[in-house]
Amino acid sequence: MRAVRIESNHKIDVIELPAPIAKDREIVVRPVACGICGTDLHICQHGFPGTNYPVTPGHEFAGHVVAAGREVKGIKEGDFVAVNPNVSCGACEWCKEGKPHLCNALTPIGVGRPGAAAEQVVVPGQNAHVVRESIGYGVAALIEPLACALHAVESSQGVRDRRVLVIGAGTMGLLTSIIARHHGAAEVTVIDPNQGKHPIAVDVGAHKVATPEQLGDERYEVVFEAAGAMPALRMALNHIRKTGVLVQVGVHNVEAIVEVNPFTIYEHELRIIGSNSLANQFPAAVDLMYDIAQPAGKLIGETYSVWDFGAAVQKMASSSAVKTQLRFD
Ligand SMILES: NC(=O)c1ccc[n+]([C@@H]2O[C@H](COP(=O)([O-])OP(=O)(O)OC[C@H]3O[C@@H](n4cnc5c(N)ncnc54)[C@H](O)[C@@H]3O)[C@@H](O)[C@H]2O)c1
Ligand SMILES: [Zn+2]
Ligand SMILES: [Zn+2]
Repeated sequence: MRAVRIESNHKIDVIELPAPIAKDREIVVRPVACGICGTDLHICQHGFPGTNYPVTPGHEFAGHVVAAGREVKGIKEGDFVAVNPNVSCGACEWCKEGKPHLCNALTPIGVGRPGAAAEQVVVPGQNAHVVRESIGYGVAALIEPLACALHAVESSQGVRDRRVLVIGAGTMGLLTSIIARHHGAAEVTVIDPNQGKHPIAVDVGAHKVATPEQLGDERYEVVFEAAGAMPALRMALNHIRKTGVLVQVGVHNVEAIVEVNPFTIYEHELRIIGSNSLANQFPAAVDLMYDIAQPAGKLIGETYSVWDFGAAVQKMASSSAVKTQLRFD
């Protein structure tokens, strides 16, 4: 089969590999849609923690099952599935605590093990979730980032009737905004310096959209930092209402440090919470996607053939579109 392969020197090729064979608890999936995101850009450009080079990328995908191992339950050949890319060990303290995303031996599909930018990909059966095909291929491939956004919203311990500030109008920020509205937030304000992102933020339901300069000094009960940029985090810290919560969704450079005022944390009884990938939210994200497929689908921008992976990642980096996806025809 053909597969995209990124070498440790970041060279991208399409190569011929033996088709994968499903072990007893595994399935083989033929992908039909796959999103690309900042993680793929890091893998291509300067490395991402946990990458096992040479690697076939692709971790936000959906496809058809072409083979299922003997011990796989509830999934059969022909099923349409979306795949949770977090493959955890099942034995470490975090897995036993029911937090598989924090597994000490996590090997994410498309990062630590071969991903979906290929004609076929093998995955543990328990990571695949059957999805109604009518939802659409591209929307099914958005279930993975939706699960991450859902974990972020769940981490906030509730947005209902609260005023929400979302910093960053990319895939994460806009999916978070869609969920916040769906969960009954009183008001959702989205901030992005790129005004090209503002119309889509309104289109998917944000009540207010502004640039950082336009924000003013209002404070919010729930703030999501979904940009992964230092100015965004500084802004987030300055706009939390007393007793409010900041959810850190954006992924910063591992060495980045930001100054916080501990007196304000004490005086205002602030909470600062990290949200790392999707926790156990994948099944809930599948269900939620049936309700929000219409606004979520608006995030899908350009699509590229999987065999043009390098060009797709390059163009994504310079694009004003929200979610770039690969197609497999
Ligand atoms: N926690 C998780 O599980 C998780 C999952 C996926 C991605 N991420 C991270 O979340 C962040 C966003 O991911 P994405 O896929 O939406 O990226 P994206 O590049 O599509 O969107 C980021 C947006 O932030 C905006 N931005 C930049 N500086 C800003 C600022 N100062 N204020 C407001 N907005 C600003 C950009 O214009 C862009 O629209 C990244 O850091 C990514 O690594 C986290
Ligand atoms: Zn991703
Ligand atoms: Zn583990």
